[in-house]
Amino acid sequence: MGYQAHFRVWRGDGEGGDLRDFTVEVNEGEVVLDVIHRLQATQASDLAVRWNCKAGKCGSCSAEINGRPRLLCMTRMSVFSESETVTVTPMRTFPVIRDLVTDVSFNYTKAREIPSFKPPADLAPGEYRMQQVDVERSQEFRKCIECFLCQDTCHVVRDHEENKESFAGPRFLMRIAELEMHPLDDADRVREAQSEHGLGFCNITKCCTEVCPEHIKITDNALIPMKERVADRRYDPLVWLGNKIGRR
Ligand code: SF4
Ligand code: F3S
Ligand code: FES
Repeated sequence: MGYQAHFRVWRGDGEGGDLRDFTVEVNEGEVVLDVIHRLQATQASDLAVRWNCKAGKCGSCSAEINGRPRLLCMTRMSVFSESETVTVTPMRTFPVIRDLVTDVSFNYTKAREIPSFKPPADLAPGEYRMQQVDVERSQEFRKCIECFLCQDTCHVVRDHEENKESFAGPRFLMRIAELEMHPLDDADRVREAQSEHGLGFCNITKCCTEVCPEHIKITDNALIPMKERVADRRYDPLVWLGNKIGRR
């Protein structure tokens, strides 16, 4: 059965804005994005929201619902009581463009800073051989839809704009971990993660893991193993070389 819900939606731009109240119809089986679309159709035709797939796969509709980073298209209205006010705000860590749309280019900058896969120079494409166990180890990380909710929630940048330059954030530290686990990658990823991408800033709060819509165990399976390798190795290049050779 349908009902009338109370929504509070942030409206504004980079200069500022505020929360606006709306009463809007909700039908059975709907998600928050459906209600936002109904608001656009009936009461606020210029409300800006970014979305694409409505299936939890494109990572576009990231925002905050009652203060928690979530995908608008994967948050069912049934998780809220009918009398509850549902507050929808843009991701806090990134600059607002308009209404619920933020400028996430920070993430693309960080992505570009990570050197790509570096295979051994004497191995031609087509000669790569990997054990199935090595394929499976990093498979989990490839489920990432780049919604940047983990980047939004991590306190290292959420509360500290000044850390953005030196901290890649959980999504991109996870990318480095994925490359580090690749048996044919020749770059020194552990050293890079620590000295150039701010792995040391992460104090394992696990907030990133909690909000990941793909349920990737970012902290336990990517960040902690990489931190352990930093501690093990203590930057001894011979130990690093031994680790690399030993893993083949
Ligand atoms: Fe989104 Fe999870 Fe990828 Fe982070 S790791 S960008 S939360 S899918
Ligand atoms: Fe941030 Fe995740 Fe570490 S939330 S502090 S990157 S465990
Ligand atoms: Fe694609 Fe929500 S619209 S993830």
